[in-house]
Amino acid sequence: MDATIPDTDVVRTAVDLACRAPSVHNSQPWQWRYDAGRLDLYADPARLLVAADPRGRQLLISCGAALHHLTVAMASLRWRTHIDLLPRADGSRQVASVRFTRDAQPRSHDFDLLAAIRRRRTDRTAFSPLPDPLTAERLRAAAGAGVTVTVLPEDARPALVEATELSSAVRRYDASYQAELRWWAGHDFDTDGIPDSALATANERAMVSVGRAFPDPFTPRPSAAPTVVETGADRADASTVLMLGTPGDEPADWIRCGQALSAITLEATIARLATCTLTHLTDVDRSREVIRELAPDAGVPQLLIRVGTPTHPAPMNDTPRRSVSQVLTFA
Ligand SMILES: Cc1cc2nc3c(=O)[nH]c(=O)nc-3n(C[C@H](O)[C@H](O)[C@H](O)COP(=O)(O)O)c2cc1C
Repeated sequence: MDATIPDTDVVRTAVDLACRAPSVHNSQPWQWRYDAGRLDLYADPARLLVAADPRGRQLLISCGAALHHLTVAMASLRWRTHIDLLPRADGSRQVASVRFTRDAQPRSHDFDLLAAIRRRRTDRTAFSPLPDPLTAERLRAAAGAGVTVTVLPEDARPALVEATELSSAVRRYDASYQAELRWWAGHDFDTDGIPDSALATANERAMVSVGRAFPDPFTPRPSAAPTVVETGADRADASTVLMLGTPGDEPADWIRCGQALSAITLEATIARLATCTLTHLTDVDRSREVIRELAPDAGVPQLLIRVGTPTHPAPMNDTPRRSVSQVLTFA
């Protein structure tokens, strides 16, 4: 056995954790291949959301998030990752080639990040405010190079609502988009998609004016009682919204944005905060333009993250994932 490269059990464990990453509609659009010390990550075009994401932007953001999760998992196993992004110039679907050296020295924060991989989940209900304004700055600092994170001021909220309404209006009669959304969201698949339990009920949705217009959960359920202080008479969402922008709008920008999304949401999870990724605002050109005007110097808007103090208990069950044997092959 070659001790200078991770063995297959280590790789299997780390890829399993990497696949807990968030992905658009929980589509998990990735495949991994391990060969003698090199782990290659490929985008899975069969999982492209043709209507919502024709360019594969969100598909690559999702792959970027999985890549960052992998780095966290490997660090806690004492392997440092060396990532070559888009290693082929031939437009192939290879996202990254990753090698490892046995010199990572994980600290307690690395183990906190590891634990956060298992606890993080997307929360679509209303949030209470962040405990203090510095929290948003700490989350901002978690994003790596190549991504600008802007903490949107409260007075940006009307523009976010306007952009949300614009994108809903564009999508309302888009039959392919609606069919795709209903395929992926709101019924219980064993391995992918957004289960009923992870969708907000109609009442919960009404409290969040900047969420994607998901269908109602297939199985009606009563709204869970809030556990934390109400933020107002109507318990309207009082989250802070972070905007992630990149210098360009190319595959490398999208992958880096996914890495930053993973880093920020894991840090937020460690701080016991709730997060929700929002891309309906950047799916559609017209609403993306509204978002761009909110922070004209922050690059091309890729996604937003709603972050705040949770008002509902975390769902009992994880969102499903494909098994590692479905997404990882060994040479
Ligand atoms: C690129 C990307 C786009 C997403 N867009 C949205 C969105 O617009 N609205 C939303 O509620 N969740 C969004 N999500 C969250 C996914 O639906 C979620 O990660 C997936 O269902 C898995 O659930 P989990 O995050 O709880 O593990 C997005 C995630 C990613 C990575």
